[in-house]
Amino acid sequence: MTQTQKILVTGATGTVGRQVVAELLARGHAVRALTRDAAKAVFPDGVEVVEGDLTDPGSLAPALEGITGLHLITFGGADLTPLETGPRILELARSAGVSRITVLHGGGPSPLEDAVRGDDGVSWTVLMPVEFMANALEWADGIQAAGEVREPFVARLSAMVHEGDIGAVAAVALTEEGHAGQEYVITGPEVLTVGDKVAAVAAAAGREIALVELTEEQAVAQWRAAFLPEDVIGFLLEAYGNTPEVGRTVSGTVEKVTGRPARTFAQWAGEHADVFRKQA
Ligand SMILES: NC(=O)c1ccc[n+]([C@@H]2O[C@H](COP(=O)([O-])OP(=O)(O)OC[C@H]3O[C@@H](n4cnc5c(N)ncnc54)[C@H](OP(=O)(O)O)[C@@H]3O)[C@@H](O)[C@H]2O)c1
Repeated sequence: MTQTQKILVTGATGTVGRQVVAELLARGHAVRALTRDAAKAVFPDGVEVVEGDLTDPGSLAPALEGITGLHLITFGGADLTPLETGPRILELARSAGVSRITVLHGGGPSPLEDAVRGDDGVSWTVLMPVEFMANALEWADGIQAAGEVREPFVARLSAMVHEGDIGAVAAVALTEEGHAGQEYVITGPEVLTVGDKVAAVAAAAGREIALVELTEEQAVAQWRAAFLPEDVIGFLLEAYGNTPEVGRTVSGTVEKVTGRPARTFAQWAGEHADVFRKQA
């Protein structure tokens, strides 16, 4: 039986952080969740909520008191700007007595991730998930409005991962031996096209959904209309138009680390079917 530990989760209101919180709770650990605005944040019972801002390391000292493990994001705002405060956050974590750290890799250079990797005083694990299954939630409006999904590069392959499985790998790495210095590529159990995913959502929601393939130019116009920053648009064009092998290869990490199989996209679609179903 693993000893109960107290873990601080940053990004705890986010897609991945919520799952890290849930998986730690399910394993019986004490969880403190960081948010910039506690009044807006909603957490499960039993979670201790603390305010702090990763761009202002001084605000983190109370959050780190009594903490044994720390889950970190690498960005400091909605535009995913890389945090420059990594070294200071690491200093504070070390003096608070944190012994294990997980970092959610952000897909690009990160001073915070560099600082963690360079720290031989803690047991760190870098989590490198591929495309999140949760990205498919962006289809909900188009499905509700027109019964269609509009995407470029529909034949692209993706080994997309259930965000709950990222949380599960994080929870194990934060609380058990054997994961120090590891970089875990975290994927789902299968490789699917956009068409396969749309078919899974249609089956789960019990409705027909058309897949409309956009040209690159149409996709860029759609993303600009959704106010995506230009660097994110550039990243998406590259990631979707020329998906690296790592993004379309099943890694097996979830089963290896957690002892149970990675969840499928069909499972994910079943869990979220309500947002895609025809409204009465
Ligand atoms: N989407 C994908 O397919 C994909 C794939 C691989 C990797 N990733 C990476 O995953 C990360 C995004 O994770 P996510 O989707 O879970 O995030 P998210 O849902 O966008 O949530 C953002 C979280 O960051 C927190 N946050 C933002 N700025 C903060 C600050 N200055 N101080 C403290 N907390 C701050 C927010 O907390 P509050 O608002 O509560 O303060 C919130 O919990 C990115 O690094 C991205 O590159 C994404």
